[in-house]
Amino acid sequence: MAQMKEGNMPNAHLHELFIDELKDILGAERQLLKGLKKMSAAAGSEKLKEAFNTHYQQTEGHIQRLKDVFSSLGLTARGKKCKAMEGLLAEADEIIEDFQDSPEVLDAALIAAAQKVEHYEIASYGCVVTYAKLMDHSEAKELLGQTLAEEKETDVLLTEIAMNEANVGETV
Ligand SMILES: [Fe+2]
Ligand SMILES: [Fe+2]
Repeated sequence: MAQMKEGNMPNAHLHELFIDELKDILGAERQLLKGLKKMSAAAGSEKLKEAFNTHYQQTEGHIQRLKDVFSSLGLTARGKKCKAMEGLLAEADEIIEDFQDSPEVLDAALIAAAQKVEHYEIASYGCVVTYAKLMDHSEAKELLGQTLAEEKETDVLLTEIAMNEANVGETV
């Protein structure tokens, strides 16, 4: 049985996994900054552009929160390349290329790509919030929970934009 690394920390067996996931998410958020810039530039609808720009700023906040989480655990913040985010953003690039000449469908395609990213983040943050809770890392749980809420809000906002304009054909 592995020795507990931190005194009485409950569920210490999750510690390595928790830290590894945090590194992955930090890498993912950093990669996403570039992706959001591209998606914002490609978006036709002002609302969608604005949503991507707002989420860019939120993503900078998510990176800061992750740094705070690392320091709350007495660790230096370190990210690692997230292969999933790399793949999701490669698909977003592909979509931009494939639909750049069809503005009537490009926004709907961008929303689909962005929602896949958000769902990945929601899954990732959902897991680390649970681990933090199980290990009694209350500050980390609080910070990660705030980001999780913002990822969910972004997903809802994207659905709204899709339903209200991007996926709806011109009625004129
Ligand atoms: Fe994020
Ligand atoms: Fe996000």
